[in-house]
Amino acid sequence: MSRFALIALSLTLLPAAARADGDAALGKTLFSRCAGCHTVTAQNKVGPGLAGVFGRRAASVAGFRYSKALSATDIVWDDATLEQFLAAPAKMVPGTSMAVSVPKSEDRTNLIAYLKTLGAGVTP
Ligand code: HEC
Repeated sequence: MSRFALIALSLTLLPAAARADGDAALGKTLFSRCAGCHTVTAQNKVGPGLAGVFGRRAASVAGFRYSKALSATDIVWDDATLEQFLAAPAKMVPGTSMAVSVPKSEDRTNLIAYLKTLGAGVTP
């Protein structure tokens, strides 16, 4: 392969690699879809506060009334579980009270990148 072809190839692959990591700034903008129910602090609204949600066990924010369905799982929120939950919450956790889904894969990746920036675990 010529050097030119190699450069052209790496330029084509670059945007895909960037997407795989997710763009937290875009995710923050997308979070407007979530902010009606979720804060990014420890404060609960219609949904639990999402500070520190990445790496946390599901349904573990004190003082929030989770559905029995989500409480009964042993999910830990990471890239794979958040991806699955946001794509179709009720499919992953039948009976969950979270009814909103994020149909576009790219949006999910960016949202997850943003959720990762929300700091360490909640101190209730
Ligand atoms: C209409 C209100 C509503 C909206 C909008 C909403 N959620 Fe939720 N969310 C909830 C509720 C209620 C729960 C608790 C689910 C349960 O107990 O089964 C929840 C739970 C979650 C959880 C699990 C939290 C935990 O502590 O285990 C995550 C993660 C989450 N939502 C992310 C999001 C994201 C990201 C968005 C935006 C795309 C979003 N939610 C939009 C209501 C909402």
